[in-house]
Amino acid sequence: MSSKVFTFEDVANHNHKNDCWLIINGKVYDVTPFLDDHPGGDEVLLTATGRDATIDFEDVGHSDSAVEMMQKYFVGDVDTNTLPAESKHNLPPPTLAPSTSNQSSAGFIIQFFQYVLPLLILGFAFALQFFGKKDKPEEN
Ligand code: HEM
Repeated sequence: MSSKVFTFEDVANHNHKNDCWLIINGKVYDVTPFLDDHPGGDEVLLTATGRDATIDFEDVGHSDSAVEMMQKYFVGDVDTNTLPAESKHNLPPPTLAPSTSNQSSAGFIIQFFQYVLPLLILGFAFALQFFGKKDKPEEN
């Protein structure tokens, strides 16, 4: 059974005391009937409309029974492509896989030079000292 998909704008329009929708973890909840019963008060729910409320919800450390309770108010999913940029940190970054392979090869080169370059400089300094000492007795 596929659930309804809303755009961010659709959800953001439901931002009143008599019509209040929230986005938590990519899911949409119509909490209008719950406003008066919410132990944290209706104000916090109303200020959490029009944006992604995931962080606010998680920051409170809601109990398992609160999470269970949420299901009653579930009305659909949000189209993640319509979320504003600052909300997308709550979703797994889809471009992470290809970019990490580039990053890891660049990281390997940096790590290589981090260890090899100081050794090369050290070797060069020793070589200079060695040849410098070797030259001196010949001069005397
Ligand atoms: C459908 C969504 C939500 C449900 C079902 C829900 C449910 C609950 C429940 C059952 C509690 C009592 C404590 C617990 O059992 O964890 C609670 C407390 C609270 N909630 Fe929510 N909540 C929802 C969304 C939110 C959001 C989006 C916020 C913040 C913007 C929020 C802020 C709070 C606060 C501040 C408390 C009071 C905590 C305390 O005084 O200890 N809630 N909520």
